[in-house]
Amino acid sequence: MTKAKKIKKIAVFTSGGDAPGMNAAIRAVVRTAITYGAEVYGVLRGYDGMIYNDFVRLESHDVSNILQRGGTILKSARSMEFKTKEGRKKAYENLQEHEIEALVAIGGDGTFTGAQIFASEYNIPIIGIPGTIDNDLYGSDATIGYDTAMNTVVEAIDRLKDTADSHNRLFFVEVMGRDAGFIALNTGIATGAEGILIPEVETTVNDLKITLKTNLKKGKTSGIIIVAEGDDSGGAYEIARKVKEIDNTYNTRVTVLGHVQRGGAPSLADRLLASRLGFHAVEALFLGKNNLMVGIQNNKAVYVPLEKAIKENSEINPELLRLARVLSI
Ligand code: F6P
Repeated sequence: MTKAKKIKKIAVFTSGGDAPGMNAAIRAVVRTAITYGAEVYGVLRGYDGMIYNDFVRLESHDVSNILQRGGTILKSARSMEFKTKEGRKKAYENLQEHEIEALVAIGGDGTFTGAQIFASEYNIPIIGIPGTIDNDLYGSDATIGYDTAMNTVVEAIDRLKDTADSHNRLFFVEVMGRDAGFIALNTGIATGAEGILIPEVETTVNDLKITLKTNLKKGKTSGIIIVAEGDDSGGAYEIARKVKEIDNTYNTRVTVLGHVQRGGAPSLADRLLASRLGFHAVEALFLGKNNLMVGIQNNKAVYVPLEKAIKENSEINPELLRLARVLSI
């Protein structure tokens, strides 16, 4: 174990949308920090808890038996108050009162945007851990919760395919992803969807209509169209309505999977990813690193500036787009 810097107290928090595997990350942070000889505090409800002085001491036994649980034992929130200078000042004063010397922030782009502003105003080292089902951060091959969420979607769509086939129906299935189509694209390939609509690719109802017409000619009377919630078509209900407007042949149904995608026990991949990221985040603090996000790329721990993680967004793999088209004929 490398020891470069003495930090006596660190705090960890989860913020933004929860993601399966966040608990495994909290456990790893707590146990690694204890191994390094530090005391650990958990902040409840993300930045809100920092502002309202909601800190709990976390010992090793406090994180026993949480590895396999979805959600976050520390609770989460999207704090409006932390967006204000006064909110951040209160948060900093509370950190000082507890003599917290460094922070581990688990969350997505909103969490890291807050962390970055905070780090620029106050002298406190922060390491970010990517925790969001959306996988929309640059610098890590995957974010915590992404794999579990996709497995949940695949299970749901497999079920929908049974009923779609029995009734010759076309299902429009909306999956999460406000700004990103990663969940939609990957689950679409994994379930053999007839169409995948994502924010990164412009959707034209006409293209979809042509695909559906060709399918009908081939005798395909049921199917699945996956729509990422952030797609420019306006969501699954809207696209289903538009398709019906121009072609009423199909018997359509809409299913919005919603927050079901955020819950449940984390997959093996997410437990492992979260454990590794939690461990490396704490090691980074003890190595004197600051204002970075830890990620895993090509099976190795890497560090990218928080600013880069938020701004550069992971890109959709064009090979997957082509593959989806070819395999869905
Ligand atoms: O960022 C994760 C996410 O699940 C997005 O996919 C979704 O758009 C959003 O959170 C939903 O947020 P909320 O839980 O606040 O409704």
